[in-house]
Amino acid sequence: MTTRIIGTGSYVPEHIVTNDDLSKIVETSDDWIRSRSGIGERRIATDDRTSDMAAAAAARAIEQAGISPEEIDLILLATSSPDYCFPNGACEVQEKTGAVNAACYDISAACTGFVFALNTAHAFIRAGIYKTALVIGADVLSKLIDWTDRSTCVLFGDGAGAVVVRADETGVLGLNMHSNGQKGNVLTCGARSNGNFLLGKKPELGYMTMEGQEVFKFAVKKVPECIIQVLEETGTDKDDIDYYVIHQANYRIIESIAKRMKVSMDRFPANMEHYGNTSGASVPLLLDELNRSGKLKRGDKIILAGFGAGLTWGAALIEW
Ligand code: UT7
Repeated sequence: MTTRIIGTGSYVPEHIVTNDDLSKIVETSDDWIRSRSGIGERRIATDDRTSDMAAAAAARAIEQAGISPEEIDLILLATSSPDYCFPNGACEVQEKTGAVNAACYDISAACTGFVFALNTAHAFIRAGIYKTALVIGADVLSKLIDWTDRSTCVLFGDGAGAVVVRADETGVLGLNMHSNGQKGNVLTCGARSNGNFLLGKKPELGYMTMEGQEVFKFAVKKVPECIIQVLEETGTDKDDIDYYVIHQANYRIIESIAKRMKVSMDRFPANMEHYGNTSGASVPLLLDELNRSGKLKRGDKIILAGFGAGLTWGAALIEW
């Protein structure tokens, strides 16, 4: 028994911010952003909160799966930007979707979050504990970004993607998850400061910091490694993979992964040109785009892979 994706959904806010718009607030240009990252524009939440976007993506996935919300046993929301410290965002999604029978909690693994959450849902299903789960990646990173820091603010966007998974004969064929906390300092975002208000230290909000080149080097080394690991463990040839759905941080990172793996770029779909890096949302957002445009057919083999803060990285091989 394994875990099959039976429905996908996504949601992005309406408001589009182009590279030219950003060149009015920091010293940058459309040419620099496009050539270094492949990003042309991004969606920025004006009124939508993380849970609103997560619930909208989830509702679409539930509708496509053709199940009733009451059938969902588990909601996992991968996010780094929940609306509250508590309640968790998955509980907010429960309230908005009517999945009254689900256990709900968030998973924090930044841009790898969706892959970690899918793997966690799979573990519950494989163990026979749950039958149906809703797995979501949603982030409003625009509220965590320092909009005066051109080295990060041009890269990110807001959005949400979701899948409904269910126990089935085929689906997840293999997976892995990795972390390296020793390198955590290369990509951080403070929450409230750790100072204790009782002891006179009023909490302050932190914003994102990133050593871009360190993250770049980490991604182009570790992502091929974890993909090859899952291929080897499942006895799958890299050329039998129909699509490599990789976290959409940077087009050059995807090109480098494809090159290292000696796989044609045709197998690496990309949408960061329109959405930027949507963190936990990027993998399910792209998967939903492929699904809804009719590109996925039963039996297709798909790699899902993420990388990000932690550092964290991991991959799953699924049969559609
Ligand atoms: O989900 C994971 C999230 N993180 C990532 O995926 C980040 C991975 N890293 C990257 O994508 C790339 O390292 C970046 C796109 C962030 C940067 O590209 P780079 O080719 O590594 O550029 P760089 O950091 O070496 O900067 C080159 C130059 C610097 O100027 P000098 O020192 O050469 O004069 C930067 O100050 O570009 C400058 N620069 C900019 N110029 C215009 C940095 N940001 C900008 C900007 N516009 N937005």
